[in-house]
Amino acid sequence: MNPDRRTFIRRTAAVALTAHVPAGAQSEDLIRRPIPSTGEAVVAVGVGTARRYEGANSEAELAPLRDTLRTFLDSGGDVVDTAPSYGDAETVVGRLLADLGHRRTVFLATKVGAAGRSAGHAQVERSFDLLQRKRLDLIAVHNLQDVDTQVPLLHELKKAGRIRYVGATTSSDRQYAPFEAMMNRQTLDFIQVDYALDNRGAAERLLPLARERRMAVMINLPFGRGRLFDATRGKPLPPWAAEFDCTTWARFFLKYIVAHDAVTCAIPGMARPEYVLDNMGAARGRLPDAAARKRMEAFIDAL
Ligand SMILES: NC(=O)c1ccc[n+]([C@@H]2O[C@H](COP(=O)([O-])OP(=O)(O)OC[C@H]3O[C@@H](n4cnc5c(N)ncnc54)[C@H](OP(=O)(O)O)[C@@H]3O)[C@@H](O)[C@H]2O)c1
Repeated sequence: MNPDRRTFIRRTAAVALTAHVPAGAQSEDLIRRPIPSTGEAVVAVGVGTARRYEGANSEAELAPLRDTLRTFLDSGGDVVDTAPSYGDAETVVGRLLADLGHRRTVFLATKVGAAGRSAGHAQVERSFDLLQRKRLDLIAVHNLQDVDTQVPLLHELKKAGRIRYVGATTSSDRQYAPFEAMMNRQTLDFIQVDYALDNRGAAERLLPLARERRMAVMINLPFGRGRLFDATRGKPLPPWAAEFDCTTWARFFLKYIVAHDAVTCAIPGMARPEYVLDNMGAARGRLPDAAARKRMEAFIDAL
């Protein structure tokens, strides 16, 4: 059986394995979510590579990033998100995944942010080269840039078997209205949008629309680039966080997101192995129910 197919079957079979397992359990116990267009499942917490994966050239700079990705993949994680606009992050990610020899199990997502078809095409070809892959799992149009040119290009690449999924991203509520209109006129496998406990605008229209249009949802900026850690620094977790198996602030923030029924995965930026071990814990155990999510919102709003 070819490895892509094997990975697909493993992920699909694991969809049902979700809640009520202790932290520190094996990768089979991770919460996985199906991509609506195929049923293939991915782990509910992935890795974002903006900022921290740029400009790593020396072995001293690369080693902690390699350890981070190794820890992530060894823990059963699969989704890695990058972009051509993250400096040389695609080069770094491609090199580290090659070093790790884990390339086949990674669900590798990048973006296209270009004006015009030929510029889009050139950028995508460069991503294949830098990421050292003949096939990419997902390419998403970055922040709506020339979206009505780039989405058809991505669909052609999908038809040709070079990418598996087509998506589009935003990370700003100023783009939500045009993003919503784009979701209504385009066929997409994935959207990627910003959503966090203190930044809940995406839940008003975009997340329900994604559910209705059967689009998978990747969540960027789940910590507001660290803003939520600043807001809670030195404060104890509320004791009721134990009701949904939550022992750290990172898990508190991520479980809130993962518990939304339209969300497929959150992609926190992680450049340290200890962050991976912490954040992957949000893809294990019980999740907050609707009442607990309201309580979490009130708690954060009151800070
Ligand atoms: N429009 C778009 O398409 C778009 C826009 C923005 C982001 N993204 C994607 O979304 C990903 C996530 O965004 P982001 O990385 O900018 O912001 P983020 O995920 O909200 O925050 C990441 C920061 O949180 C801190 N952190 C992570 N895990 C932690 C833990 N367990 N404990 C304590 N601190 C922790 C780290 O800070 P330190 O590194 O400072 O320690 C890390 O850099 C990006 O990497 C990118 O892939 C896409």
